[in-house]
Amino acid sequence: MVTGASSGIGAAIARELGLAGANVSVNYSGHPEGASQVVQEITASGGRALAFKADVSQPSEVQAMFLAARDAFGTLDILVNNAGVQRDAPFLEMTLEQWNRVLEINLTGAFLCAQEAARKFVRRGICPERSCVAGKIIFVSSVHEVIPWAGHVNYAASKGGLMLLMKSIAQELGPLRIRVNSIAPGAIKTPINRPAWETPEAEAKLLGLVPVKRVGEAQDIAKAAVWLASEDASYVHGVTLFVDGGMTLYPAFALGG
Ligand code: BGC
Repeated sequence: MVTGASSGIGAAIARELGLAGANVSVNYSGHPEGASQVVQEITASGGRALAFKADVSQPSEVQAMFLAARDAFGTLDILVNNAGVQRDAPFLEMTLEQWNRVLEINLTGAFLCAQEAARKFVRRGICPERSCVAGKIIFVSSVHEVIPWAGHVNYAASKGGLMLLMKSIAQELGPLRIRVNSIAPGAIKTPINRPAWETPEAEAKLLGLVPVKRVGEAQDIAKAAVWLASEDASYVHGVTLFVDGGMTLYPAFALGG
């Protein structure tokens, strides 16, 4: 199950998991066309996928989606908690609506889906032919789980919250044989941050924050997600894997300090 999989990073993760042999539940909320395109691409490459509509911040929709996915595919092994939004505004002007929406989707939505998945993993237990654990949860966080971000305090607060949500869940669910981790993307070319890379001027400015001097692609994150979900990562638990071209290395200090 990949949430927010109708575009951007979620869509790339869904495709890559499909290529790796997973049956993919493609969750979407506002963009059915994006979701059906992802489903078609996975199917065309020989995989199995279905689209499921749910607003991840709504408990009843989340429950119904997990039930429908279980009915379709029989069971659940991997949750990628990717759905996320930005509603940017200077702090002095940010509305409660902007604050709430971002926290509801990015943090409460991740909580609801993780809980639903974990309950299913615990109920079913380990299937040794597929994995040495009962299930895997991957949060798609952000470099802004550690980098403060003026003008985006709702978003940064949601991602900072995700960091300790992930680690606390990992501490609690490790003994139940559920593997929990995060990926923290840096600047990745997706619709969420189009203004930051779509003109050469904007891209040049953005690259000042990226030591490897390349804006990331959704595929960079998708490859990391497939590895983290695989048995090759079976001893990786409770960590955030930064896939950010070095954005968290305080690049400005290369020039002074
Ligand atoms: C945000 C993007 C931003 C990137 C790096 C991501 O989490 O969604 O808008 O470009 O962090 O700042």
